[in-house]
Amino acid sequence: MDYVYGPGKSHLFVLGPVNIPEPVLRAMNRNNEDYRSPAIPAMTKTLLEDVKKIFKTTTGTPFLIPTTGTGAWESALTNTLSPGDRTVSFLIGQFSLLWIDQQQRLNFNVDVIESEWGQGANLDILAEKLAANHSHSIKAICIVHNETATGVTNNLATVRKLLGKQWMFIPVWAKQQVHEVKAITDIDFCWVHIIKNRLAVEAWGLKNCTQREEWYSDTVTAVLVPPYIDSAEIVKRAWKRYNMSLGLGLNKVAGKVFRIGHLGNLNELQLLGCLAGVEMILKDVGYPVKLASGVAAACAYLQTNIPMIPSRI
Ligand SMILES: Cc1ncc(COP(=O)(O)O)c(C=O)c1O
Repeated sequence: MDYVYGPGKSHLFVLGPVNIPEPVLRAMNRNNEDYRSPAIPAMTKTLLEDVKKIFKTTTGTPFLIPTTGTGAWESALTNTLSPGDRTVSFLIGQFSLLWIDQQQRLNFNVDVIESEWGQGANLDILAEKLAANHSHSIKAICIVHNETATGVTNNLATVRKLLGKQWMFIPVWAKQQVHEVKAITDIDFCWVHIIKNRLAVEAWGLKNCTQREEWYSDTVTAVLVPPYIDSAEIVKRAWKRYNMSLGLGLNKVAGKVFRIGHLGNLNELQLLGCLAGVEMILKDVGYPVKLASGVAAACAYLQTNIPMIPSRI
C-alpha cells in the first residue's frame, strides 16, 4: 500500500516507536558527524553520563548498543554466561518466551517457570528453587521487568529480597521502563494514574489482560475483547481510519487483545484523543460501547487531578 501522509499528527500508542519531544526532534535535524573526528568520542562520553541519569545511577556503567532489543538480550547473555550454565527464566508472555528461546539456542540449561499469560512471574516457585539451590547451580535469574505482550510488570525488589545472600546474575529486561517520562523528568503525569487505574477500560465494560492490579504496567495497557471480536481488526481500523497506531495481541493472545502503549513524550489531552479513537473503533467493530464513556471517566479524573504546569504558575 502506498504511504499517504495525513493531516495533523499521527497518534502513536504503541510500545515503540514513541513520541519524541520537539526539542529532540529539532536537535536531530543536522548533518552527520564524521565518526573519525575527535568530536565523536567527546560526544559519546556525554551520552554515557546522560544515560546514567535515566537509570538513576551515579556508579553504574551504562553501555550504548546500536542494535534491536533482541540484540541487547543476546549481548547481555553472551557477555556474562557460558553454554551449559543454568538459568531460571520466567515465561509470562511473548517477549519472555522469545528471550527463553534465545537462551535455549545459546545452549544454556534453562529452567523455565511458566505462568498463565496475564500473570506476573511466579515468585513462590522461584523461592522454592532458591531454597533448593545448595550446590549454587543457578547462575542467573532472567526476568522481563515489563512484559509488554500482556501489560505485566514484575516486582524486581521482591526478586532481589528473595535472593537474600545468594549471589547470582539477574539480567533484567526493561526495554520500555526507561521510556517512562516520570522516571526521566520526575513530573507526576496524571495520565499514568488514569491508565494505572484502568478507568477507561472499566467504563467500556472490558477487562484487562493483566490479571492483578499489582502487576499493572505504567507503559502499556493490554485490553481483552469479547470472543466475537477480532482484536487485530481494531488495530487495523485504528491505523486506516483514525491515523492511530495501537499494539496487536501476540501469539497466545493474538486476536484476543489489543494494546495501548502510553509512554514517551505524552500528555493528558493526547491520551484523551486515544481513548476517543478507541471508542469509535470499538463501535466500528460491533462492540456496544457507550461513546465517550471511557473519555468521561478519564476527564472526571483529570479535571480534579491535573496539577498546574510548574513553569506557568
Ligand atoms: C518487552 C520487549 N522485549 C523485547 C522486545 C523485542 O525488541 P526488538 O523487536 O527491538 O528486538 C520487545 C519489542 O516490542 C518488547 O516489547
